Amino acid sequence: MRNCKEKNCRLENGNCLFPGSDGLLVQCVGPWVEEKYFFLERYLEATSEARRKFLNLGNAVYIDLFSGPGRCIIKDEQREIDGGCIRALNPKGVPFNEYHFMDIEKNNIDALIKRIDTHYNIKAYIGDSNQNINVLIQSLSQTRYNRYHFTFIDPFGPGALKFNTIKQLAQFKRMDMLIHFPTGAIKRNLDIWQEHEKAILDDFLGTDRWRRALVNQPQNRISSILIDIFIEQLKNIGYPDNGLKLAVTDSEEYSGVPVVSIKNTKEVELYVLILASKAPLAQKIWQSVIKASPDGQKSLF
Ligand SMILES: C[S@@+](CC[C@H](N)C(=O)[O-])C[C@H]1O[C@@H](n2cnc3c(N)ncnc32)[C@H](O)[C@@H]1O
Repeated sequence: MRNCKEKNCRLENGNCLFPGSDGLLVQCVGPWVEEKYFFLERYLEATSEARRKFLNLGNAVYIDLFSGPGRCIIKDEQREIDGGCIRALNPKGVPFNEYHFMDIEKNNIDALIKRIDTHYNIKAYIGDSNQNINVLIQSLSQTRYNRYHFTFIDPFGPGALKFNTIKQLAQFKRMDMLIHFPTGAIKRNLDIWQEHEKAILDDFLGTDRWRRALVNQPQNRISSILIDIFIEQLKNIGYPDNGLKLAVTDSEEYSGVPVVSIKNTKEVELYVLILASKAPLAQKIWQSVIKASPDGQKSLF
């Protein structure tokens, strides 16, 4: 019997030692994941009408590079909730035609598939997404014409994602990406990475520019500078300025890039969510979605 308070039942791979109420494995998470899901779902719902015209022609594609098992348990509350993949199956009754789910853990993919009704068109990939991306690209390239793709990129930390993976996805004309940018984990490891010639952050950002950019910078500027570099990198692979932010913005924080900041229960930022699109309309929708937070408060942007 699970008792999160008395015993640490979170395994190294992020799953709970004990199965969920359906007998399948569940990921062990903090309560803040509900904010992440709130914004993911609101965005998928808000874009449902735009998606419908692609859906009707068989051209709407959903990708999750780090899919998890499809269900989570909020540690300490022992409350089970659906993961991102399950929530993406039918937002506002406008599903996608294809789902591509990737995870390094075979057990996660097995549990996820068991949780999904067989009528959905699911392709599953087991292994490192940075390697399996080639297989995914091959599969997507078979029907390249006029398709809409949405990719959720939600790693545990910067070590799991290489910018080159994002670059490969960017070759598609319509490729919206909701990206978990792990500011907290990066800040915690920065001192160590700066001492080494080659570090996780070089691969995550796809450049070593951060090394020079952070010299003599105060602590409170670090996230902004890194997000600036990331945005520049996205521009280099074909994401236009107006698909990453609006021309006019009220905020100087993160250079005006509209992000959602996900914080832990001590109000420490863990990561931010960034929407990258080649279409200004998608960015406009994202900005309207993030105006309200799950608790009904207005956001800064
Ligand atoms: C934050 S969880 C994903 C949660 C999921 N997106 C959701 O919404 O429910 C990160 C997942 O990435 C997987 N993972 C870690 N490293 C990976 C890698 N290199 N390639 C693919 N999956 C990886 C983990 O097994 C874990 O399930």
